Amino acid sequence: MVVDEALAKSPLFIDLPPEAYEVIPQASTRWSYRKGQKIFQKGDRGDALYIVLKGEVRIFRESMEGRPMILAFLHPGDVFGEMSLVEDRPRSATAVAETETEVLALFRDRYLNLLKRFPRLGHNIARIIAARLREVNDELLLFAFEEARVKVAFALLKLYRQRRGKPREKGWFIPVVHQEIANLAGTSRETATRVVHELRDQGVLENVPGGLLLKDPEALEKILYGL
Ligand code: CMP
Repeated sequence: MVVDEALAKSPLFIDLPPEAYEVIPQASTRWSYRKGQKIFQKGDRGDALYIVLKGEVRIFRESMEGRPMILAFLHPGDVFGEMSLVEDRPRSATAVAETETEVLALFRDRYLNLLKRFPRLGHNIARIIAARLREVNDELLLFAFEEARVKVAFALLKLYRQRRGKPREKGWFIPVVHQEIANLAGTSRETATRVVHELRDQGVLENVPGGLLLKDPEALEKILYGL
C-alpha cells in the first residue's frame, strides 16, 4: 500500500491501524482549489472536515472594523473544519487556498461511521482541538500583556513553525509583507515595520525580495520567552 505522505504525517492518523490510510481516503472526497479560491467562509454551514494533501491554506477572520486577522497557515497533513463537524455549528473562520491546493473532505455521516471502526479517530480530533486551544491560550496572554516587539516575534515564529516558506542557504525564507505580520501580531503596519527593522539591525532577519529571510529563529524564542 502506498501511503500518501501528507496522511502519514497528519495528526488525524496517529495510532490508527494501517488500513485506515486506505479506508479514510476512500470515504472522503478529493477536491482541488485554485490559488486565492475560497474553500469556505465564516458563517457557512459546515458538515465536513478537511485534510490538506497539497498546497497551503490560510485561515482568517475579520475584526469588527473589517481588519483581517490571520489565525493560521496550514500545510500538507494539517486538518481544518473539524470544529463545525464536531459541534454542528457554522464555520468559525474563513479558509482560502493560498496556493494551488488539494484536500480530502470527510463529511459528517461518513466520519460518524468511521468512528465506529476507528474510535481513535475521535481522540485524534480532540487532540487537534486541544493543541489549538493551548496555542490560543498562549496568544491570549501575549496579546493582553506584551509589548509590540514580543507580538511581532511571536507572529514570525508562528509562520516559521507552521512551515510557511522554505529553507534557503542563509536561513528560512518567509513570503510575507509587513501588513500580514501586523495582521498576525495584532499591531499596526507601522509598528510591525518598526520591529522588523529593529530585528534586521540585530541580525535576526533580512529583508529580501518577496519577504523576509529569518536567520536566527532562536533569537525570536529568546524575545518571546524573555530569556
Ligand atoms: P470550523 O469552525 O469548522 O471552520 C473554520 C476552521 O478554522 C475551524 O473549524 C478550525 O479548523 C480552524 N481554526 C479556527 N480557529 C483556529 C486557530 N486559532 N488556529 C488554527 N485553526 C483554526
